[in-house]
Amino acid sequence: MKVVLLAPAYPAEMPQFTRGLAELGVEVYGVGDSGVDGLPPLVKRCLADYLQVPRIMDEEDTIPRIHRWLRGREVDRVESLWEPLVILAARLRERFGIPGMSVDAVVGFRDKQLMKERVAAAGLRVPRARRVRTTAEVWAAAEAIGYPLILKPIAGAGSADTYRVDDAGELGRLLPRLRHVREASCEEFIDGEEFTYDTICVDGRPVYENVAQYLPRPLIARTVESISPIICTVRDLDQPTIRPGIELGRGVLRALGMGSGFTHMEWYRKADGEVVFGEIGCRPGGARLVDQMNYTGDVDLFREWGRAVAYGRFGASTERLYNAAIIFKRARGRGRITAHAGLAEFVRRYRPWICAEDLLPIGAQRRNWLQTLVSDGWLMVRHPQWAQALEIARAAADDVTLYAE
Ligand SMILES: Nc1ncnc2c1ncn2[C@@H]1O[C@H](COP(=O)(O)OP(=O)(O)O)[C@@H](O)[C@H]1O
Ligand SMILES: [Mg+2]
Repeated sequence: MKVVLLAPAYPAEMPQFTRGLAELGVEVYGVGDSGVDGLPPLVKRCLADYLQVPRIMDEEDTIPRIHRWLRGREVDRVESLWEPLVILAARLRERFGIPGMSVDAVVGFRDKQLMKERVAAAGLRVPRARRVRTTAEVWAAAEAIGYPLILKPIAGAGSADTYRVDDAGELGRLLPRLRHVREASCEEFIDGEEFTYDTICVDGRPVYENVAQYLPRPLIARTVESISPIICTVRDLDQPTIRPGIELGRGVLRALGMGSGFTHMEWYRKADGEVVFGEIGCRPGGARLVDQMNYTGDVDLFREWGRAVAYGRFGASTERLYNAAIIFKRARGRGRITAHAGLAEFVRRYRPWICAEDLLPIGAQRRNWLQTLVSDGWLMVRHPQWAQALEIARAAADDVTLYAE
């Protein structure tokens, strides 16, 4: 079994997927834009071969290079787990006649307006929305949809350039700041709690399912720097508050023609119990969500993803043992990290429930919290009971403080 994996080393989680495939005996052919010397040792060890391309986002340039490099080798799969490259992977599959999702199917997971249209056509609830390209189109859409509304890029990520707009005055003030956004989605604002629905699928059938809750909602977490955002996986997927979201998610996978691989969907639950589709990608969630799912069931989804795409099987237990929470920290002050206040006491109190910690060390330069959800580092905790898991996560959020100067 030979698999071409686009971007085997970047972003941060990719080396683990490369490792997962290699452990199954798959020959992994990596394509990336860093030099082979810059690859992490784990990735180098796991690759059968590597092609460095000058600009991996440039399809016109990259496709012929991969074609020449593969000549004479029979490849069985082309995969990417990184959002900007999922369409390139599909184009390569079509070009080489390799099984897997078509470009048309993948575009449905990439274009936020098209995905909503396809999901709505299957009779599922989506926010009322319009694709807008000009100021005039935004005003017309706002008129039709009403306030409050959400304005966001069609191909956005990480809540960048995403705004809640409460009235026409606010919209008028906001528009000049969105000039660099070529295409946007103007949407009905859905008030409610926000969750993920994550799967590994084999030929569209979910063989692994996960739900996690965002605390608070991502747009708020991205707007207020003093918040330590928490994401917590839900151990009990059979609760009446979660079940409808899973049913919605399964319907979305059918509506969009999912194939094999990871999916990451977001959905809202309104106060009256109604569930509403948010968005979906045919790749895993970032910011350590795969690790979080692994800690939820003591499994290795990096490897099981590989088994699903290469062999059409899933080999791990789907029993859920814990609610696993990640807490992202943002230091107070600018510059370099000077202290981890409260950390020793937190560890002393909750040691058995702490899975991992990856805070920036003292002396490290702070990251830009607007550009990375991971911010200045994170803690991962878990507990079999939801209330306790949240209590520990809130202690990590409130009682551990990073300082910078
Ligand atoms: N229609 C909507 N109603 C309410 N909140 C929304 C809506 N669309 C987006 N948001 C908020 O903005 C965040 C980012 O939007 P999303 O569509 O998930 O884009 P991305 O995560 O790719 O940046 C969401 O997590 C949610 O908090
Ligand atoms: Mg999102």
